[in-house]
Amino acid sequence: MLKMGNDIKRAAGLLQEGKVVAIPTETVYGLAANALDTKAVAQVFELKKRPAFDPLIIHLASADGLEQYVKNTGPNFKALYEAFSPGPITYVLPKQSLIPDLVTAGHPTVAVRFPAHPLCRQLLESLPFPLAAPSANLFGKVSPTEAQHVADQFEDSLEYILNGGPAAVGLESTIIDLSGESPLVLRLGGLSMEDIRAVLGKEVKYTKSSSSNPKAPGMLSAHYSPGIPLSHGNLDSLLDKVDRQRCGSISFCKRIAGIPENQQRVLSPKGDLKEAASKLFGALRSFKAEDIDVILAEEFPNEGLGRAINDRLKRASVS
Ligand code: TXA
Ligand code: MG
Repeated sequence: MLKMGNDIKRAAGLLQEGKVVAIPTETVYGLAANALDTKAVAQVFELKKRPAFDPLIIHLASADGLEQYVKNTGPNFKALYEAFSPGPITYVLPKQSLIPDLVTAGHPTVAVRFPAHPLCRQLLESLPFPLAAPSANLFGKVSPTEAQHVADQFEDSLEYILNGGPAAVGLESTIIDLSGESPLVLRLGGLSMEDIRAVLGKEVKYTKSSSSNPKAPGMLSAHYSPGIPLSHGNLDSLLDKVDRQRCGSISFCKRIAGIPENQQRVLSPKGDLKEAASKLFGALRSFKAEDIDVILAEEFPNEGLGRAINDRLKRASVS
């Protein structure tokens, strides 16, 4: 039977037995398993219905002992780690052989992250292995930012959800590939490109991967499906074509005339992108198909976390 609570010992015990446990992080909830135990990791893929070509991130409390898992970290890693870890950034680095190929989908690199959520950190500190964890949603669906979102999808298949409350960041981590000549951002996320550039002191590129040739293979174009058609763009032009009574809306700070109040989600009335990011996935989940035909989502300012918000909304609009 599924249980939800803040019992770190219980979560650690299950993970040590090779079970899958849902864990809180500051970005989104994860479906975690012992990263060094192939059988445990295989269950994560199965539960999530995730294709085996899509690699997982490993989670650690700190960089102590990191050399067991990755090699050639280098100066960019050192600078970013000191500035932003623990926090919403994931580093892709050449892997050591201890990390099973299943975790990395056969890639010679592994993605590593150091979550900031205190409960998650305590759990990681109590374990002698890293946790491999994708976001705790079925493949292609919206990532969970609350324990209840996880319970809604995995009611029958999980023994325990470690409940750490609502995720503070609410967007997945920013992924940066440090395995090549120059650092390359593979996924926009909870840490902005501007912050990364400021620390590295140079231009850093973002390469959006496509489903035909995925560099970050999980970043397929159709993702984050809210289960209702979604249009993303300039609200004034989107509003021209619709019956407002039958629309839901996701907007940054302003309400929209003509759309019923209970069908509107204003992510940050005070115009704060951080707050908007933390509310985005909850908003995407909150609409019911019987009440509306389409969700209209505003194009956010293309700067800071606004870029990651636009990225998720664009993916949510691909059906
Ligand atoms: O915030 C997060 O990153 C959350 C929390 C739970 O930590 N995790 C998360 O995991 O978003 P997931 O599995 O939903 O997304 C991981 C992404 C996928 O797009 C995957 O393709 C990419 O990381 N990835 C993993 N290993 C990689 C590698 N070696 N090279 C390139 N991309 C990699
Ligand atoms: Mg995911």
